[in-house]
Amino acid sequence: MINIVGAGLAGLSAALTLAENGIKCRLISAQHSERSQSVLAEGGINAALDTMGESDTPELHFEETMKGGCYLADPNSVEALTKSAPNIVKKLASLGVPFNLNADGTIMLRSFGGQKKKRTAFAQSSTGKMIMTALIDEVRKYEAQGLVTRFPHHTFVRLIVGEGRCEGVCVRDSFDKRLYDLLGNVLICCGGLNGFFPEMTTGTASDSGNAAAVLFTQGVRSANLEMIQYHPTTFAIPGKRCLVTEAARGEGGRLFSEKDGKRCYFMEERYPELGNLMPRDVVSREMFRELHGGAGTFLDMTGLDPAVWRGKLSDLRGEIMHYLAADPAKTPVPVQPAIHYFMGGIYVNERHETSISGLYAAGECACRYHGANRLGGNSLLGAIYGGITAARNVTPDNNDVTEAYNGSEPFACAPSPMFVKKTGAVLLRGLGIIRNENELKKALNELNSIKCENAVELARRELSAAMLMSALARKESRGAHYREDFPETDDGYKKTTVAEYRENAVNISFDDIPGRRSE
Ligand code: FUM
Repeated sequence: MINIVGAGLAGLSAALTLAENGIKCRLISAQHSERSQSVLAEGGINAALDTMGESDTPELHFEETMKGGCYLADPNSVEALTKSAPNIVKKLASLGVPFNLNADGTIMLRSFGGQKKKRTAFAQSSTGKMIMTALIDEVRKYEAQGLVTRFPHHTFVRLIVGEGRCEGVCVRDSFDKRLYDLLGNVLICCGGLNGFFPEMTTGTASDSGNAAAVLFTQGVRSANLEMIQYHPTTFAIPGKRCLVTEAARGEGGRLFSEKDGKRCYFMEERYPELGNLMPRDVVSREMFRELHGGAGTFLDMTGLDPAVWRGKLSDLRGEIMHYLAADPAKTPVPVQPAIHYFMGGIYVNERHETSISGLYAAGECACRYHGANRLGGNSLLGAIYGGITAARNVTPDNNDVTEAYNGSEPFACAPSPMFVKKTGAVLLRGLGIIRNENELKKALNELNSIKCENAVELARRELSAAMLMSALARKESRGAHYREDFPETDDGYKKTTVAEYRENAVNISFDDIPGRRSE
């Protein structure tokens, strides 16, 4: 029995892989799969399918993923990921994902940031939702056979650890409030740290980050926590940011800034080769500079062909009309960067094993494929491939014990909204698009003065400190981590930042990046 915590794309992929191999799992989640972060993914999934006559290859996908991530990812994992991508997308199509198709019936691909070839398969601008729908259906078959047992509305409380080994997971039923010890190996697929940045992320607030925080204070190592991706094109809606998919630029949308009635298409002027489709870290920094120079920043989609709106971006248009009461086909949309993805997270090896034996992690909560900056379209791929890889490597055991009890449990509590708000503001101050030592140190001091009322708040504060300390330790600029006091990339730091909680203190160190084996 394997306990999978999280029923988004990584969790579902893992459950499906296990079930296809006759291995039982429990699929534990705070919400139903239909409400996971994965359904919000818009623009697409990368795979060098080469259906657009551009001579694309998995090797080019590999090279651009490594370059986009500023060479901070393990090349062997990235190679395996990019080689697997075409078959993953073909399998999704065989499960009924309604990808947009070319006239000859092959899967249509669109342009996405940081990539010179059309490589992103898509279902209009609801790709995540369509993939999730197909996988939810597929997994249901195995639920009926008893291979997958769902535990919806159960939240992670803590890992059960004995003699340094993971023995299971303690979860809490959100309705009857009872605690359950679910024994067996554990795969964590709990998503990114969106809940650490209320109001400022495109992600769902139900990815609270509590599980990652508790695991951190239980001794699970994390990596590259300073690498936080800002997506250039978002707008504010109550409680969060709404994503305007990068596909809008892939289909011809143009960024401009406006000051004193004058328009400047700054990305096209400054980056003639990729223009609006430079990697997200570059676009977000340029927008930040425009905004701080007093300009407004806009996405101009008024030149898009009506057929593109109808066939490829109709959901995006509907979303913008719903929230902004304006038609993007007629009016430029005001956009600003906001947090979108966490490249860092639970440190896993190629097999998706964590630093605790018997504990695995996959999806956005894990750090493996994206280095210092993830390319758009690689997150759905990384979640699926990570889930599959973890499931192939996890050791099943025959332990299917479930123990229920009503006892008190220090980790079965939630952080107060005030605590989340305070720590979120402090983190944003230190971990913005442009960083420096002064602000990072101030943020760390402020953070340490925030009082914790329970064990989960303490765990969140310690993981927050680890994020700030990782950013302080990396005295260079690379990808999403831009230090105005160290604006150059320094290959002395071409290393993984490792954060560990030992003897009630956060420790930061660096690991070397392995060489590519196939070279
Ligand atoms: O802009 C987007 O559609 C985002 C895609 C991604 O982050 O992979």
